[in-house]
Amino acid sequence: MTDSRPDPVEVHLPDDHAARALAKDAREGLGATPKTLPPKWFYDARGSELFEQITRLPEYYPTRAERAILAARADEIAAVTGAHTLVELGSGSSEKTRLLLDALRGAGTLAHIVALDVSETALREAAAALTAEYPGVQVSGVVGDFTEHLGLLPGEPPRLVAFLGGTVGNFLPAERAEFLAAIREVLQPGEWLLLGTDLVKDPETLVRAYDDAAGVTAEFNRNVLHVLNRELGADFDPADFDHVARWDPDHEWIEMRLRARRALTATIPALGIDVSFAEGEEIRTEVSTKFRRERVATELAAAGFGLEGWWTDEEGRFALSLSRAE
Ligand code: AVJ
Repeated sequence: MTDSRPDPVEVHLPDDHAARALAKDAREGLGATPKTLPPKWFYDARGSELFEQITRLPEYYPTRAERAILAARADEIAAVTGAHTLVELGSGSSEKTRLLLDALRGAGTLAHIVALDVSETALREAAAALTAEYPGVQVSGVVGDFTEHLGLLPGEPPRLVAFLGGTVGNFLPAERAEFLAAIREVLQPGEWLLLGTDLVKDPETLVRAYDDAAGVTAEFNRNVLHVLNRELGADFDPADFDHVARWDPDHEWIEMRLRARRALTATIPALGIDVSFAEGEEIRTEVSTKFRRERVATELAAAGFGLEGWWTDEEGRFALSLSRAE
């Protein structure tokens, strides 16, 4: 049997988008003082697999906590929103999304699933699986960067945009304000945003979640150096860098860093530059912001959303908020 359906995946990124974006980020970030790299470059195939392992670690509670909230609240979210379209930003194939999709299907409103992701391969696999699992529901994949391509989201209103996992915490405050405003911009009044946010808690618990005993997060952090080596021809020895996770109480975020164990110089041929490190010099590779309810409500309000639902897991570690575009 031939499949005459149109390709459900729209590509909004040129083929060389990732390579150019990585080159720009590496040039800017490694040329800055202090050195930084954006966390999105962790997630090549190996990095995505390491992240999957992280979600199963005893110390890394956010995934389990968010899943528990969704399992308890998905029906309520479906009833309140009556969403016809579920838009998922990032990770279109996740098991957690299915809790929402099943609830919307059960409520009889689900007509369209839209997944937006930077990885075309991941998106094609997710689109194929969702098409098989939700017969009668239209599935669209948009290959794009959720910081740039929100204006292109298909789907009939009312739409429910889900941004799960606490990834919104990876933005710096100004970037987050811009991102939330961009989501608000593509929605009509009365449409919905479901946001997962990790919560402020004791620093020991937080640091352990980002510095696990098995060393998986350390490997995940060092993976960005493997990405630079492969994509830009760099000659980093990841073993020259220690994994560092620290709680910043002023910003209320966890920072991950890579700390040079000795003075060294790496060559990055694709950029035509050498990057020197003093012994102990660090690259900041991620901030993962932890929230309080008040801050989430204030930031959502500033972007034009009204908070309509706030749910945490039983231990109060993680929150899902449901807000309505005003
Ligand atoms: C996928 C961005 C939510 O910030 O907790 C896990 C990534 N970094 N361990 C997070 C991550 C280190 C994760 N997010």
